[in-house]
Parts: sequence; structure tokens; C-alpha cells
Amino acid sequence: MSNESNPAGRTLTLRVLRHNPQDPDSEPRWAQYELEEYEGMTLFIALSEIRDRFEPSLQFDFVCRAGICGSCGMVVNGRPGLACRTLTSTLPAEITLAPLPVFKLIGDLSVDTGAWMRGMSERLETWIHATEPTDLHNLEERMEPELAEQVYELDRCIECGCCVTACGTARMREDFVGAVGLNKIARFRLDPRDHRSDHDLYQLIGDDNGVFGCMSLLGCHDVCPKELSLQTQIAFLRRKMVRVS
Ligand code: SF4
Ligand code: F3S
Ligand code: FES
Repeated sequence: MSNESNPAGRTLTLRVLRHNPQDPDSEPRWAQYELEEYEGMTLFIALSEIRDRFEPSLQFDFVCRAGICGSCGMVVNGRPGLACRTLTSTLPAEITLAPLPVFKLIGDLSVDTGAWMRGMSERLETWIHATEPTDLHNLEERMEPELAEQVYELDRCIECGCCVTACGTARMREDFVGAVGLNKIARFRLDPRDHRSDHDLYQLIGDDNGVFGCMSLLGCHDVCPKELSLQTQIAFLRRKMVRVS
């Protein structure tokens, strides 16, 4: 028997927004599929079952199935999230799935977050700007474990794009770097191997496509599947920037 606390045995209705932008005859449409739920079912499993049993052309992205690669972001009942980490038991029996907006649609639930992330990364130069190249004779500067832990914490971002989708500014401003970009600046600011000064880094986000475009909507913070402290990082950067400007 199905009930609220033990939903195994429910029949799920999945409504999936389908569209193939490569096909000039394709119109966005909702397709509906019914599945028997079982314990431990994730949206990844449900979508794989739909593709295997009913709809081989259904497009969606998965690589790691473990919340690590960031490729399976989609809008689940109106909220961005990772499909591989979403148990169907946490959702009502009627589930709507749509691709992440903001990013270029490849087809159905598959979007190109990579091009967006690459553009943002190039604008913010999200790589270590070392003073000298490191090799066997010139080793990396040592870092205190506590500091390494702080850098690692911000490095947990998997570039899934959920924060970008949940952000009103990102929808209005094509070049807004989003919480993902602001988090990266906070991360490089901490890294002693990067010779860029705070001033250099703040220059990269000192306009409406950076920290001043953020309207503190905090959708990013609410949906981040890695539960990064985005609210704290953004507030910190804003305070610092106000002092610098
Ligand atoms: Fe995803 Fe969070 Fe990184 Fe945004 S900050 S891309 S929501 S992991
Ligand atoms: Fe967007 Fe997050 Fe700022 S949702 S407006 S980046 S607080
Ligand atoms: Fe890698 Fe979901 S498949 S995060």
C-alpha cells in the first residue's frame, strides 16, 4: 500500500518538457509517462527507465550519478536540482521535469552548461595565477591545513548551474557571473598560491555583471545542492567591495 511515509508502490506520473531545437519542426511540448515507483528510485533511474521502455530519443545528461560531475541539473517541480541525487520518494506522485533555463538547450532535459561556465571562467580567470611556475625544484608554497580546508570547502562547487537558474539577475543579464562566479573569486582570494591582490580580484567583479548586479535574491543559496555558503560569500565580497570603491 502506498502512503506518505512509504511511497514505494505509488504510480508516478512524470511530465517532461520535450523539445529538439535542432529540428525546425519541433515545438516544445509536455510528454507524460507513468512508472511504478520502487524504494530507492532516483530521478536518474526513473528517466533511464522511461528511455529504456518508452522513449529512446529522450535526452538528458548524467555522468557520475553521485552528485559530483554536475551534469544532471534540471528543474524538478519548479526547483533546480540534481536528478541523480533526488529520490522520487521526496516528491509528490506527479513530477514535472524541465531543462535548466539560462543555458543553451541541447534537447529535452539536456543543456550546455559548459559553454556558460567556460565564458564565466574566462572572464574571471578562474585559474591560479602563480608568481613562478612550480616544478620539482620550485615547489608550491605550503598552506596551513585550516586554510587548505577553507579553500577546499569553496572548491566543492560542481558547476551544476542550479544557482544560475535560480537567480533573477542571471536571467536578465547574459554576462552576470552568478553565485558560482562570485564563489570562485572568494575561493581564489583565499589561495596563497595566487599572486593576484584582493584589488585585482575585486576588479573582475566590480560591476553590474559581478557583485553589484546581485540583488541578494538568495535563490542561489537555497538551491545549491552542495550547500555552499553562497549567502555568506556574496555578503563578504559586497562588504569588501564597498570599502574598496
Ligand atoms: Fe552548483 Fe552550488 Fe556550484 Fe552553483 S555554487 S554551480 S549551485 S554547486
Ligand atoms: Fe542571484 Fe544569488 Fe545574488 S540568486 S541575485 S546571485 S544572492
Ligand atoms: Fe553527476 Fe548527477 S550525474 S551530478
